[in-house]
Amino acid sequence: MAIPESFIEELVARCDIVDVVSDYVQLTKRSGANQFGLCPFHSEKTPSFSVSPDKQIYHCFGCGKGGGVISFIMEIENLPFRDAVAFLARRAGMEVPDEDGDKDMAGRRARLLELNKAAARWFYDNLSKPEGAAAVSYIQKRRLTKKTVTNFGLGAAPDDWYALVNEMRKRGFSDQELLDAGLAKRGKNGGVYDVFRNRLVFPVIDVRGSVIGFSGRILDDGEPKYLNTPDTPVFSKSRNLFALNLAKRSKRGMLILAEGNVDVVMLHQAGFDCAVASLGTSLTAEQARLMARYTKNVVIAYDSDAAGVKAAQRAIGLLEPAGLQVRVLRMEGAKDPDEFIKAKGPDAFELLLERSANHVEYRILAVKSKYDMDTDDGRLGFLKEATELLAENPNAVEREIYAKRVAEYAGVSAEAVVNEIRNAARKLSAADRKKRERQAMRPEIIAQPTAKSMRYSNVASATAEEGVIRLLMADPELTRYTGDLDTGDFTSEFLGKLYGKIRHRIENHEDVTPAVLTATLTPDEAALLTKLLQGPVNLAAAREALSDYIDKIKTEGLKTSGREDLLAVRDKYQKKKGLGG
Ligand code: UTP
Ligand code: MN
Repeated sequence: MAIPESFIEELVARCDIVDVVSDYVQLTKRSGANQFGLCPFHSEKTPSFSVSPDKQIYHCFGCGKGGGVISFIMEIENLPFRDAVAFLARRAGMEVPDEDGDKDMAGRRARLLELNKAAARWFYDNLSKPEGAAAVSYIQKRRLTKKTVTNFGLGAAPDDWYALVNEMRKRGFSDQELLDAGLAKRGKNGGVYDVFRNRLVFPVIDVRGSVIGFSGRILDDGEPKYLNTPDTPVFSKSRNLFALNLAKRSKRGMLILAEGNVDVVMLHQAGFDCAVASLGTSLTAEQARLMARYTKNVVIAYDSDAAGVKAAQRAIGLLEPAGLQVRVLRMEGAKDPDEFIKAKGPDAFELLLERSANHVEYRILAVKSKYDMDTDDGRLGFLKEATELLAENPNAVEREIYAKRVAEYAGVSAEAVVNEIRNAARKLSAADRKKRERQAMRPEIIAQPTAKSMRYSNVASATAEEGVIRLLMADPELTRYTGDLDTGDFTSEFLGKLYGKIRHRIENHEDVTPAVLTATLTPDEAALLTKLLQGPVNLAAAREALSDYIDKIKTEGLKTSGREDLLAVRDKYQKKKGLGG
């Protein structure tokens, strides 16, 4: 009996690989995003076993083993897949469902996504009908432009108890489906009625482009101000972020984390197209890991009230362990980004963003909150971490100011702290130098497999094939741009198979994160996958990179099939168009 896919996805989301591995391996954080320890699978004296909190995978640079959290348990506890899943489920306090509902579930999920899409479209279309007039004037009042409305697919829920229900029934959706999607509720008399009424509707779209839920803001000052889709088979509030579908394409190299939907929408309108928000909940560890898949840098732009400051502290504690560099923005004279931009304009916000560069104070407080400052051990731990943090700061004035602050918190002399910072800085630059040397020796990353049966016959093509896999896993929506690339074009049988599998999973709305995907592979395959995932991904130029890779694969294919004649024709054609070769 198969374990439902959705269960595996949830299990993996709930079992942080750093936590699980830490039960077996002592990990230390070095510079960079990965944590290192002594490999539990081969004997070694210097750590080459790495765990990536953002990709949620482990990989040993020594013996080549690698995989996600499930593969790790299979390997280290020597368990078959099912038992490893049960083992982790017990650890996470979850129950493994035992019915064979996987096929059914996939079909049900696909129907709900269809329903959501139809509903989103209908909400949007209402804006040009009389029943959307109130929402339109609200949109104008909040100074949102037409372009913004289209970009986000905003819509209007009419002031009516049955408008959506009636419309979707006409289109063949059942009451049960409407209930399951969280779009309708059952009334006392047994009938169903619309959940979203008299509201401005924000569809929540995931990174694959599916409408998974909705958030609706009331148009007057009724209660509750916002209504959100509850968790459904296709929607989990704690595992998605509002507007990540748009923000992931931003070229700004960071994500801005705001509190409110309107803040995010206004930020995008003002040109800050990397803004996201957690969906009416306080940030979760899963959302932090999701962000880490798209960026290394997060700027928190929460409300400037006391609650917002507190929430920011809490968020730092979740974002940093996910391997993210966190900065905090301080807005003065405005409650939230929406107000700030309306009052002072985009340029002023841009300035804030630049000035948030080094919010040392916040980060020190975040470190402090992790330790019990009433004990010697706690103060020592705080001192060590805080001085390491300051050692990374290139600004000497800030180092001095905050050294004093740290000294006060820990109850020691400022000189002692300054000395500690100097020591930490020395260690840091030595580690940096080593890292640069290592990188210089490894100009091109290619994951030539260790298993003989999987060795690459055409390294040039395989390098591009690896690139395609890396890109699709980082951004599943890119499958739209793979053109006619087919499993048969791959020179590596394994990479071809993997490509097919990834496409298939994406088409079925299934997860393709490394942690989930490796669970479906043999140990050799998982190891190869984690190795190739060590290569760089630049999502900002993803489509160009993808088309270069595909080009390379096709070119190599023509070469090996002896059709160099076609190649010459193509090159000539490209030169004519000024595209180069
Ligand atoms: P805010 O009240 O700060 O929202 O709540 P906002 O976006 O600034 O609201 P307006 O429209 O400008 O007045 C922040 C977020 O918390 C969630 C929503 O996701 C909201 O965007 N929230 C708030 C709820 O889920 N329910 C509520 O009743 C209120
Ligand atoms: Mn607001």
